Amino acid sequence: MSDHVVVTDDGPVRTIRMNRPEKKNALTMPMYAAMARAIEDAGRASAIRSVLIAGAPGAFSAGNDLQEFLAAARTGEGLDQSVIHFLHTLIRAEKPMVAAVQGLAVGIGTTMLLHCDFVVASDDARFSTPFVQLGLVPEAASSLIAPRLMGHRAAFALLVMGRTFDANEAKAAGIVNAVAAPAAVEAEAMKAARDIAALPPEAVAATRRLMRGSPAELSERVDAEAALFKARLTTPEARTAFETFFARKR
Ligand code: COA
Repeated sequence: MSDHVVVTDDGPVRTIRMNRPEKKNALTMPMYAAMARAIEDAGRASAIRSVLIAGAPGAFSAGNDLQEFLAAARTGEGLDQSVIHFLHTLIRAEKPMVAAVQGLAVGIGTTMLLHCDFVVASDDARFSTPFVQLGLVPEAASSLIAPRLMGHRAAFALLVMGRTFDANEAKAAGIVNAVAAPAAVEAEAMKAARDIAALPPEAVAATRRLMRGSPAELSERVDAEAALFKARLTTPEARTAFETFFARKR
């Protein structure tokens, strides 16, 4: 289990906390693997009725670790299997997922929210997906889900133009259910997770399956995006963007 992901069960609610604040919760391969495992285990554990995904104050997640993107750009290997597996795990997650978002939600920090069932954000939360700015394409089936959720133009501003949405814009776009003060976000998200956990679990599971539609369609999109992503990672556009990021403080 990665030390950068802390999993705790409190009654029927499992909390999965990204815990790499010194890197703004940028996600590494071991972190993806640990998060996927915790979600899969929750699916099998009858005592767990909902999953809460949380980050650190000021940083839900700064997205995929760009050092790993840079390494993948050099080897030409594309997204690591742990990332792809995590994305498929989100699609097939059996327990309702609630997110508590404070501060930054960049890249996968935003796109994973499209798979959550209820999202509480702090009023200082900022959502962005700078894939195109990095010379890449969106992942996590966001190219399919985001236009459906918020319409083509809002999705274009987010996914292509790299516009940052504040908490209220994210709420208007349908990414977020509720906006709260930073100090209240986790309590409000935990309340939602407990409310869900108190419902009849089989009815929740059946209704959720009906509402979430075809996992196969989403899985196909994840794989199609990953193939393009792999090709894009080795382009000069992408390599230059990663190198520029790490050179910025020198
Ligand atoms: N991958 C790897 N390291 C990252 C990172 C990422 N995605 N995001 C932040 N970090 C690291 C920084 O390199 C820095 O490390 P250092 O202290 O060893 O130099 C540390 O986290 C703190 O980040 P910093 O940039 O100093 O914080 P900030 O508050 O000024 O800016 C961000 C925060 C998130 C706006 C900025 O770090 C950023 O743009 N990160 C990249 C986001 C991104 O493009 N993600 C991929 C999306 S697909």
